[in-house]
Amino acid sequence: MKGSTIIVHGGAGDWPEPKQAAGLSGVRQAATRGFRLLQQGRTAMLAVEAAVMEMEDNPVFNAGRGSTLNLVGNVEADAGIMDGKTRCGAGVALLQRVKNPIRLARVVMEKTDHALLAGNSAEKLGEAFGLPKANLKLPERVQQWKQARRQLEKADHGDFSRNLKLIRIKGQSLLGDTVGALAIDRNGDLAAADSTGGVSLKLPGRIGDSPILGAGLYADNKLGAATATGVGEIAMRLVVSKSACDAMQALTAQQAASQTVRKVTRLAGRGLGIVTLDRKGRFGVAHNTPHLCWAGFTRSRGLISQMRQ
Ligand code: GLY
Repeated sequence: MKGSTIIVHGGAGDWPEPKQAAGLSGVRQAATRGFRLLQQGRTAMLAVEAAVMEMEDNPVFNAGRGSTLNLVGNVEADAGIMDGKTRCGAGVALLQRVKNPIRLARVVMEKTDHALLAGNSAEKLGEAFGLPKANLKLPERVQQWKQARRQLEKADHGDFSRNLKLIRIKGQSLLGDTVGALAIDRNGDLAAADSTGGVSLKLPGRIGDSPILGAGLYADNKLGAATATGVGEIAMRLVVSKSACDAMQALTAQQAASQTVRKVTRLAGRGLGIVTLDRKGRFGVAHNTPHLCWAGFTRSRGLISQMRQ
């Protein structure tokens, strides 16, 4: 019987001072909830799902309730989950009313033949399986959206395909704070899960990396598990989570995370963070953004959390 470990993150980006304590408290709660399940002998899949649900229900994070808004002021949330034992996984995208998108991702994975489902049809599947609905659009996010829209207009970019450039100019303050969790259970099975409102001011219909297996998340018992946060377009173009897992064939989780972020910086610039977990239950954290809010829980080290690496 092997040791259990969970590592969760609440997003890479620029965490303003006043939000940092709430972010750290939120990731600690999520890691504790997942670790308790692992200690009770429950699966890594259940632990990552529960940890992500905890963060989806906490409006400090950009996921579930508290999702950031797109260019026209609507929520379009994405989530993904993957089982390292079976290498089955699925994502959901463009959700407006599902209280916990991560639960719907698991339904798609376990009850359908598909690996990605989006929009109204995905929401109808959630209804069919009795998943709770909620209004994900919080007044605080509407205020932030109004301010961000004003900044965007002042920056005089008529072409919204320049969103990424704008994010860089603004020092990442417009980045999404995806949440994610990786776990290994007593049987040595790995799992990964993530959830996000996406990057703020995204075009309606834009889907990020979080529901895309290999980009936003990946888990394979023979390699390791990884989940990315930051600019989804970078994670998709460089398939960062699968790359980090491949690297864990030869490297520790920390070495794989650091190597992946160095490669991202070289090929695509700043705007990404990643957490990793190897087959021995060691975790890694790396980012090229000002902050990454994370917490890990292992039997030997207990609960640890940091705003920077
Ligand atoms: N990483 C979250 C997103 O780009 O949607």
